[in-house]
Amino acid sequence: MFLSAGAGLAAGAVGGAGLVTAANGATPPHQGAPPQAPGNGRVVPASFRAAHQPGILTGPALACLVAAFHCRDRNRAALAGTLRALSAEMDALMTGRDPAPAPAGQPPADSSLLLGQGRQPVLVTLSVGASLFDDRYGLAGRKPAELTPMGALANDRLDPARTHGDLLVLIQADHPDVCVHTLRRLTRAAGGSLAPAWSQDGFARPDPVAMAGATGNRNLLGFKDGTGNPDAANAALMDQVVWVGAGDGEPEWAVGGTYVAVRLIRLFVERWDRTSLTAQERVMGRRKQSGAPLDGQKETDVPRYADDPDGERTPLDAHIRLANPRTAGPEKGMLRKGFNYARGLDADAGLDQGLVFVSYQRRLANFRQAQERLKGEPMEAFTRPEGGGFFYALPGAPDPGGYLGQGLVES
Ligand code: HEM
Repeated sequence: MFLSAGAGLAAGAVGGAGLVTAANGATPPHQGAPPQAPGNGRVVPASFRAAHQPGILTGPALACLVAAFHCRDRNRAALAGTLRALSAEMDALMTGRDPAPAPAGQPPADSSLLLGQGRQPVLVTLSVGASLFDDRYGLAGRKPAELTPMGALANDRLDPARTHGDLLVLIQADHPDVCVHTLRRLTRAAGGSLAPAWSQDGFARPDPVAMAGATGNRNLLGFKDGTGNPDAANAALMDQVVWVGAGDGEPEWAVGGTYVAVRLIRLFVERWDRTSLTAQERVMGRRKQSGAPLDGQKETDVPRYADDPDGERTPLDAHIRLANPRTAGPEKGMLRKGFNYARGLDADAGLDQGLVFVSYQRRLANFRQAQERLKGEPMEAFTRPEGGGFFYALPGAPDPGGYLGQGLVES
């Protein structure tokens, strides 16, 4: 049932040569990055046992899948059991450990989807939604300060069937069958505790910066995506932008996690493809081919809005100018790790394609404020947010035997 609902990945679009993910699992820097070894563009295996969940700073990968669930557990002890089971399975999947064979007569422990394929790296990230903090589990007093259900934002037509959820799983791999295999193992491990809410699979070119100063990833508007991201290889910067810290006024259990904004954004690609290149570039504020800002030459050039107060070079309502007016420091920023989707045709035979926008930020207000500034932008004529939600990515579980969310449900 679940898999058919989530089907629709344009599998042919994901097979290209990968770009590079640094050996430490972090995105390489934008500038001065040395050319990378060929073939090293795939998901790099990372240990589940880490202070931060390892799938957050990496990617987006060639194949991605996001799935939200409702929790059926009747009490907090049962929820703790589900989080423990999911964590153990994530650990096994990310480490490449096979499950113990099922006893004779029982259903097999694995779907066999990847039988004979050898080690298939995968990264899984687990997040919780605002609804988990309702009165079912007595967690209301432990909710991250800014976590609310995602209300209707600019230009939204949210479909309740594709919005919110108690838990969110984000899977990244080199091939869609690895994502599907991972999802099957996770739902099996959770037993009947999780009811699928919605899912979306998709694809990307492994995130940014294939070669020095060039982003390879493009979204379905044909523009490079990820250029303006902060450098995920800079740990101090990630502490400012992404990771919730001890002095942030958040519950103690939440330290080391991060807010996640997910937006399923339909892109009206047929209309876009009938729009002139000049108009497209003015909507975005960047050159389509090179990714350079309209007042620059190279992708890595930083736009100088202060020199262009009337928007003669970069329109005042260009997407990148509104999204990041470059008037504030990195602590106001976000790390975007979205991926593309193509789910066939809609009821009117229109191409149902879009962007799974995913951003991580230490303060959800950063996302909200950017979204507020984007209200009414010319790009809205080509986009329609239809689902997603706000979530909180759990801190990592570095200690053997520990599990994701342990501090939340046990403390
Ligand atoms: C509607 C679908 C969207 C599309 C197709 C889209 C596309 C793009 C593109 C092509 C860029 C320029 C390249 C880059 O820096 O990555 C960009 C930049 C950016 N976008 Fe979006 N975007 C979308 C929605 C959003 C939303 C919802 C937000 C946040 C509320 C957002 C925030 C940003 C930010 C912060 C930047 C970087 C600007 C900079 O630092 O110069 N975008 N986007």
